[in-house]
Amino acid sequence: MTDTVSTPAPVYSVPQERRIVTAIPGPKSQELHERRLAVVPTGVSSALPIYIARANGAVLVDVDGNQFVDFGAGIGVTTVGHTETAVVEAAAGQLQDVIHTLFTITPYEEYVRVAELLAQYTPGDHAKKSVLVNSGAEAVENGVKIARKFTGRRAVAVLDHAYHGRTNLTMAMNYKAMPYATGFGPFAGDVYHVPNSYPYRDGLSGPEAAARTIAYLEKVIGASDLACLVAEPIQGEGGFIVPAEGYLAALQDWCTANGVVFIADEIQSGMARTGAFYASEHFGLVPDLVLSAKGIAGGLPLAAVTGRAEIMDSAQPGGLGGTFGGNPVAAAAAVAVFETIERNDLLAEAERIERALKPALLELQEKYDIIGDVRGIGAMIAIELVKPGTAQTTKEPNPDAVNRIIASAAQQGILFLNAGTWGNVLRFLPSLAVSDELIADAVSVIDDAIAAL
Ligand SMILES: Cc1ncc(COP(=O)(O)O)c(C=O)c1O
Repeated sequence: MTDTVSTPAPVYSVPQERRIVTAIPGPKSQELHERRLAVVPTGVSSALPIYIARANGAVLVDVDGNQFVDFGAGIGVTTVGHTETAVVEAAAGQLQDVIHTLFTITPYEEYVRVAELLAQYTPGDHAKKSVLVNSGAEAVENGVKIARKFTGRRAVAVLDHAYHGRTNLTMAMNYKAMPYATGFGPFAGDVYHVPNSYPYRDGLSGPEAAARTIAYLEKVIGASDLACLVAEPIQGEGGFIVPAEGYLAALQDWCTANGVVFIADEIQSGMARTGAFYASEHFGLVPDLVLSAKGIAGGLPLAAVTGRAEIMDSAQPGGLGGTFGGNPVAAAAAVAVFETIERNDLLAEAERIERALKPALLELQEKYDIIGDVRGIGAMIAIELVKPGTAQTTKEPNPDAVNRIIASAAQQGILFLNAGTWGNVLRFLPSLAVSDELIADAVSVIDDAIAAL
C-alpha cells in the first residue's frame, strides 16, 4: 500500500475506440444525405458525409453506430473534449437560469467573468478589455474595426497563406480565393497581402523573412496609413506553418515602433491547443489585440477580441456588440473551459500529444520521401506531402496523397482534415482528450495508407 494520491482516469460515456459496423457512409447517413441535398445549398459542403448522433472525449458516433476517432475536433473547437462534463453542466445550469437578455441592454455576470479570464490568460500583464462576439470571423472584423478607430488609419495587412473567415472583410483577408472568395466580390478595400515566413518553402531565417515582410509593409502600404497587421502565430488553414524563429517578434517590434496595432489571430492556435494558453507565448509575443474563438467555449459559439484597454476603449458606446454576442450559455461554457484547462492540466496534455505524435511522424518521414515536412506545436501538428522524388528539389505539392490517406482512414474509423494553400497538408488537431494509444493507432493507419499509395 502507498499513500500516493493519483488523479482518477477520466470516465467517458462513449468507449474511446474506433469501431466500424457498416459501410462508410452507412445507410442512415446516406438517407440523411439525400434529405440534406434537397434543402442545404451546395456551398455548405461536408468533408465526410457521416451524420453524427453522439460525441464524447475524442470519439464521434454516427447515426449507423460507427465510431470515429476525431483528429479534427470540429476544426479545433472541442479542445477540452467532446461533451466535456464540466462544460455540459455549466451550459445546462445556465439554460435553467437565463438564456438571453442581450448584454448591451441588461448585462449578466458570465460575460464579465469571461472578460476577466481573458484578461488573465492572454499574453501580457497590462490592463485589458474584451468584447464578446459569435464567431471567429466576427472577432476578426471587430479587431480590425477597433484598430482603425484607435489609429485613425485605413489599411489592414495580412500574411500570405492566412485564413480569417467568410464574411465580406475576412474574404478579402484570406490568401486562397478558391473556395472562399471566388465569385463573391466585390470585396472590402484597403487589405494588403504581404509575404509570410514559411521555413519549409522559403528557407529564410526569421530576421530575413521579417525584413522581406517589413519591406512590403513600408513600400507597398506605408506605415503611416497602416492600422493593423493581423497574423496567426501558427497558421491554421494555411497548413500549420510555424514561422522561423524571431520572425513574429520582429514584426511586432516594427508595429510597436510605427504605431501599428499588432493583432494575433489565435482563433485556431489558442485556448491551450499548443501547450500554452495562446501560441503567441511560444514566440515571445505580447499582441496589442488577441482574437479567440473555436475552443473557447467547448463547442458553443463564442468569440472574443481582447486587447490593451486604451485601444479597446477607443470605440464609442454602442459601436461594438450584437444581439447574441457573449450569450450567457456560451459564456458559462467558456468559464468551464478555462477552469477545465487548469483543473485537468490540459497544457501538459497538449505537450504529451506532441511527444506522442511528432517523433512517430518523423519516423514515417524517414520511411516515405513524400513526407516533405513534419511541423507544429502541441496538439497542432501537420505533415506536408509532396510528389515522390521532389522532397529535395521542387517540393511539388501532393494533395492527391492527402486525400487518399484521409479517405482510407475514414473507412477505418479515423477522421483527419486536410489544410494548406495547395491542400497537401494532413493536420492533426485532436481534442486534448486523445490518448497515446489512439495516436499510435492513427499513425499506423497513416503508415499503411502511404504504403498502399
Ligand atoms: C485562424 C482563423 N481565423 C478565423 C477563422 C474564422 O472563424 P469562424 O469560422 O468561427 O468564423 C478561422 C476558422 O477556421 C481560423 O482558423
